[in-house]
Amino acid sequence: MSTLRKIYVETLGCQMNEADSELMLGLLAREGFAPTSDPESADLLILNTCQIREQATGKAFSQLGRWAKLKRKRPHMKIAMAGCTAQQAGDSVFKRAPYVDIVMGTQNIHDLPKLVRRAFDDERHVIAVDRQKEKSTFDYFDQVSIPQVRQDNGVSAWVTIIEGCNYFCTYCVVPYTRGRQISRKPESILDEVQRLAEAGYKEVTLLGQTVDAYGHDFNDRRYDLADLFEAVNAIDGIERIRFSTSHPLDLSDRIIQAVADLPKLMEHIHIPMQSGDNDVLHRMRRGHKADEYFTLTDKIHDRITDVSITGDYIVGFPGESNEQFMNSVYSVGRSGLYMANTAVYSARLQTPAAIWETRYEDQAVSDELKQERLQTLNEVVRKQAASQNLAYEGQTVEVLVEGPSRRNPQRLSGRMRNNRMVNFDTDQAPASLVGQLVNVNIVEANDFSLLGKL
Ligand code: SAH
Ligand code: SF4
Ligand code: F3S
Repeated sequence: MSTLRKIYVETLGCQMNEADSELMLGLLAREGFAPTSDPESADLLILNTCQIREQATGKAFSQLGRWAKLKRKRPHMKIAMAGCTAQQAGDSVFKRAPYVDIVMGTQNIHDLPKLVRRAFDDERHVIAVDRQKEKSTFDYFDQVSIPQVRQDNGVSAWVTIIEGCNYFCTYCVVPYTRGRQISRKPESILDEVQRLAEAGYKEVTLLGQTVDAYGHDFNDRRYDLADLFEAVNAIDGIERIRFSTSHPLDLSDRIIQAVADLPKLMEHIHIPMQSGDNDVLHRMRRGHKADEYFTLTDKIHDRITDVSITGDYIVGFPGESNEQFMNSVYSVGRSGLYMANTAVYSARLQTPAAIWETRYEDQAVSDELKQERLQTLNEVVRKQAASQNLAYEGQTVEVLVEGPSRRNPQRLSGRMRNNRMVNFDTDQAPASLVGQLVNVNIVEANDFSLLGKL
């Protein structure tokens, strides 16, 4: 009889969580766990959670509730909660969801095999949410060199290069859930990218909450993101390098120049503005004014040909007036954004803005108004993306083929250098093109994608 146990992992939240889930699968593969896509047949279920907005947290607990029902049918099954909500909620998870067996924080991933063994030895409510003071998770993984079990398309991989955040924007939980900024050693990153290249990957995305602050915390060397770009650019086999997310205060001229100069660096910068209004930016503690953001985006457009700039916005921040909101609307056009993730403000535990919202009730923006603003902003972003995309009609663009298109599996799908989605028709065998760089003729522009022919 096979002793291989099955593990099902579901990932909520950002790309860093996706990368963490791949690490967890890698660690547990050594313990004899094989991934399954069917939660009902799994022996261990892991939910990797996100805490960024109330909605994300709610989603996590309702998923756990559904899993509790599975567990009733298969009592030997164990349920683990990992990620940012687990980190912040700690042992209160066991009160809210007593059927959860393991709560594991963001900086305890290396403890996972031990925690799982304890849970299968029938210890109830196993928990590890300690903050690592001296060592980062990276250091642990460098010692044991875990090969991740990748969940991607075999073409494009996530590579985390810096953990945590030091900014403490007044609305954000990330510094509480992920801790302080810690950069991973370049040797370790380059080793991982080398292995990805050997496995046939063509693209890597270097990840961090403030990826452009990479290296600022090294005290044994001077090495920043531009240096890392150069080193990754030299790795044979890797054809495209992306990076996300940049913070306006850390996006140096050196980094912008490296994106402009290095052939494998893709012309796409994700650099959230959050609000286009100086007063709101100040209360968000973003550390810069609207004009400084525009100076930066002007510089990016000037120096990098055919670049896409994308961003994030929060609408309905406590006290945001209509006029202040309109400054965000204006900023989309002023900075020439291609796309933006938009969200209504959500009050988060421990953050200063959450306290203002209750203390100054008159300042809170109503749910209705938040939704209205969200729609207005989305519409402005959509129109701008559509009109930018029109410029590609009739042009030939370079696309890295990722796989079949989600909406129409007859078509292939991939991205342009500047991250725009392209779906295209071809007479060639589709499978032979996955992972290849191809030239596509754009025939039609849509809002956030382009349609073409090989
Ligand atoms: N480090 C990145 C963003 C990380 S969080 C940066 O500084 O830009 C991803 C996005 O979630 C943020 O850009 C922000 O737009 C959104 N977000 C964060 N906290 C939020 C909150 N309390 N309510 C609504 N959206 C929030
Ligand atoms: Fe959150 Fe601000 Fe840090 Fe981004 S920079 S993760 S928004 S605290
Ligand atoms: Fe969410 Fe944590 Fe990422 S809160 S956005 S999963 S860092």
